[in-house]
Amino acid sequence: MHLPDYIISIKDFLLKQGIPNQVDAVVILGSGLGDFGNEIEDQLAIPYSKIPGFPQSTVAGHSGSLIFGKVKERTTLAFSGRFHFYEGYTFQKTVLPVHIAHTLNAEKLLISNAAGGINLDFRVGDLMVIEDIITQNIDLKASSSSKKWQLNLYPIADKVQEIASQAGVTTKRGTYLYVKGPNYETPAEIKAFRMLGGDAVGMSTAPELIEASKLGIKSAAVSLITNAAAGVTDQKLDHAEVKEAAEMKKREFADLVKGLVEEL
Ligand code: HPA
Repeated sequence: MHLPDYIISIKDFLLKQGIPNQVDAVVILGSGLGDFGNEIEDQLAIPYSKIPGFPQSTVAGHSGSLIFGKVKERTTLAFSGRFHFYEGYTFQKTVLPVHIAHTLNAEKLLISNAAGGINLDFRVGDLMVIEDIITQNIDLKASSSSKKWQLNLYPIADKVQEIASQAGVTTKRGTYLYVKGPNYETPAEIKAFRMLGGDAVGMSTAPELIEASKLGIKSAAVSLITNAAAGVTDQKLDHAEVKEAAEMKKREFADLVKGLVEEL
């Protein structure tokens, strides 16, 4: 598949900074989960603002830098700060980390996000391994390819849960329902999403998983439940709870990602 030209020039820039032509893992850090960057050893951090042709992340809780280094002896490139459709990026720009993973011949792509819990058994702070997604027929025009694709995350979700339990991290499992945002949902929408089979709702990840599948990159995704979705409790939704939940689960999230970098 033909990648956009700006990916080639970003790659040239990254190679000049000392990032190798082949990396073991690419990690996309969700809202509030940027602290994982501190776990990367011998690191080289490059702010997005220093990378020619790179979009800038505008969301609070996303610092906007690329961190390269070692995790469990594996070369790892982390995106601390992602690009959401609701910020005004095209779908093609939202999947830039996936295109970079492809151009750097990454062996695996690990995606994380903050999400609202739809499933009534979920609690704030739960880590949900994504076994499937619902995109409600939103036309995710992230690439020029019209290649047919099929997403089957169930086998990889099994492996992620196995690795999590070896690392002593408890996980839930479920379907991630993608919304474009920027608004939070209404209680009626969440009720409808529950009937559709959604367990968690969020504004990222699905375009990235689809693009990775088209490009044949092995990928897995995990949601941190940062709030009960609208109408589940009486609590008003705001961005502060994203930070709180992430702070609470920082250690377990890091253990899980390290396990996945090493063993998935
Ligand atoms: N809805 C949509 N996206 C989200 C939510 C939510 O409740 N929480 C975190 N991201």
